[in-house]
Amino acid sequence: MVGVDRLVCADALDVLPHEPAGSFDAIYIDPPFGTGLARVGRGHSYVDRADDPVAFVAWLEPYLVEGKRVLAEHGSLFVHLDYRAVHYVKVALDGLFGRACFVNEIVWCYSVGGKSRRGFGRKHDTILWYARGPAHAFYADAVRVPRRGGSHMRVARDASGQAIQEKTDRKTGRVYRYPVAEGKVPEDWWTDIETLNHSAKERTGWPSQKPERLLERILLAVTRPGDRVLDCFSGSGTTAAVAQRLGRRFLAIDREPAAIAVMETRLKMTQEKREFGSDRLRPTPRRTKIAGR
Ligand SMILES: C[S@@+](CC[C@H](N)C(=O)[O-])C[C@H]1O[C@@H](n2cnc3c(N)ncnc32)[C@H](O)[C@@H]1O
Repeated sequence: MVGVDRLVCADALDVLPHEPAGSFDAIYIDPPFGTGLARVGRGHSYVDRADDPVAFVAWLEPYLVEGKRVLAEHGSLFVHLDYRAVHYVKVALDGLFGRACFVNEIVWCYSVGGKSRRGFGRKHDTILWYARGPAHAFYADAVRVPRRGGSHMRVARDASGQAIQEKTDRKTGRVYRYPVAEGKVPEDWWTDIETLNHSAKERTGWPSQKPERLLERILLAVTRPGDRVLDCFSGSGTTAAVAQRLGRRFLAIDREPAAIAVMETRLKMTQEKREFGSDRLRPTPRRTKIAGR
């Protein structure tokens, strides 16, 4: 059902096989790991409480296979993980997509979180980005960030008086000039998006809710308005909320009815802000189709 936003309460493996091949432009997933819960997928299960990344990968793989099938040729998959499972999942994804389709290991750094007496504080997550094929979409200009001052580059003015950062390659003598006003495409390590603190306005109370700015950068990088986005472990619906705000279509799946309820409320509010530019919740016609309940 292309063109309609959908929230579905179900195991993602009961939904994805019914989606046409190549029907999504982008997929972001933030699958549960180390939650201490038994995880039952369609026809397979594992017990998360053992913190067992090998069992986790075996559980996750059928979702990744379906994810690849429903991705468009120019589409991209983002898998959000932390230090406990990322290396295991990377190997599985290399096998599934091929190493040539690995685009980036995005290191998302934040300051909130635990300290360690026996090592460095663990303050980053990793988002693995795989492209479906060699001609993947990347809208670099949509995600430019301001150029930082204090870099090793000299700041000069061009003929029109515009500030430019300039550096000369010592070996070749070639001069590189970057207009400051154009900003730059971010590197693969992101330190400018903080994780949500307890009083963050967008907090819904759902565990491991991710910040909207993180999803905003990802979706802007690989989709255009009207494109189709899938999140099959949606939680509080961060992907769906951002997709809605940016004018992308979405399919958001979560097996927990409580997650769907959180998403419904959140999407109503996002739509309100989009239509009226306000935080106030006013009744609006709902265009999202809710299935599975
Ligand atoms: C880490 S949370 C996602 C958080 C989300 N990124 C956010 O910003 O709110 C993982 C979610 O996956 C859901 N989930 C776990 N197994 C699932 C399955 N087999 N199918 C669909 N959803 C599942 C859980 O209910 C949970 O809400």
